[in-house]
Amino acid sequence: MPTSTAGLLRQPPVPESDSSAGGVVRIDLSGRSALVTGSTRGIGRSIAETLAGCGAKVAVVGRDRTRADDVAKQLPGTAKGFACDVSDVASVTKLVEEVEKELGTVDILVNNAGLTRDNLLMRLKDDDWNAVIDANLRGAFVAIRAATRGMMKRRWGRVINIASIVGIVGNKGQANYAASKAGLIGLTKSVAKELASRNILANAVAPGFIETDMTAAMTPEARTTLAQQIPLERLGTPNDIAGVVGFLASEYATYITGQVFVVDGGMVM
Ligand code: NAI
Repeated sequence: MPTSTAGLLRQPPVPESDSSAGGVVRIDLSGRSALVTGSTRGIGRSIAETLAGCGAKVAVVGRDRTRADDVAKQLPGTAKGFACDVSDVASVTKLVEEVEKELGTVDILVNNAGLTRDNLLMRLKDDDWNAVIDANLRGAFVAIRAATRGMMKRRWGRVINIASIVGIVGNKGQANYAASKAGLIGLTKSVAKELASRNILANAVAPGFIETDMTAAMTPEARTTLAQQIPLERLGTPNDIAGVVGFLASEYATYITGQVFVVDGGMVM
């Protein structure tokens, strides 16, 4: 029996501890480049801010280039705006090439862009099914396929997919959205298994109800009723999600892959 596992197992890259900080954990993403889709507002924007705040170079991606540039200008460090419609395969493939050219690499890919087109099953149109699956699921697949090529060569990568609790428990009137998010979870686990040997980690974050434009249409009454079903008695904020993404991108998460992190105030247990 060998007395040491050296050479047999991948050695854990232990994060540098800063003894002067008195045990404070700091996430340092300097030297990494992150691409965050749908990052001109809401959860994506908060993720872009968090990753930039941790020192990563950030590609802010939106359908509108001017808006993406505006957000990028407000981030600390190196950040650039890019335009992309994630439901368009060619646009996503080109995006990854452009970001690699401008920022050097894509080390952290956050598939955040997403949309809803809700309706009850009987009224759900084929177009609404396709639009949601194309953007939420196929867009993520195409981005992963393009971005992991470079990650494989460098033997380091993080893929973080923003799913939803709806992809776990389903929802009335959201068959298309729930299917796209459940698909994203299956995609995450498959990528995790396929690329673990290349040190590419893939995880999903499944938010509950978060205060963004996506949930802005809810009436105050619906909001109150909803908050009563949440053990932490409030809707989440984009920062509640961004913190988990920052952790998953960091060196503190080197032994986590293929997991779904539910961030919902305890709504689904
Ligand atoms: P949001 O509507 O504020 O932001 C979504 C972003 O995705 C926008 O920037 C939008 O322009 C972009 N986007 C949509 N379709 C796109 C396309 N075809 N191409 C490029 N960009 C596109 O919504 P929010 O809440 O910030 O959502 C972010 C992610 O979090 C989404 O994937 C959403 O499904 C997910 N999520 C949100 C929850 C919530 O309660 N707000 C709950 C669970 C998941």
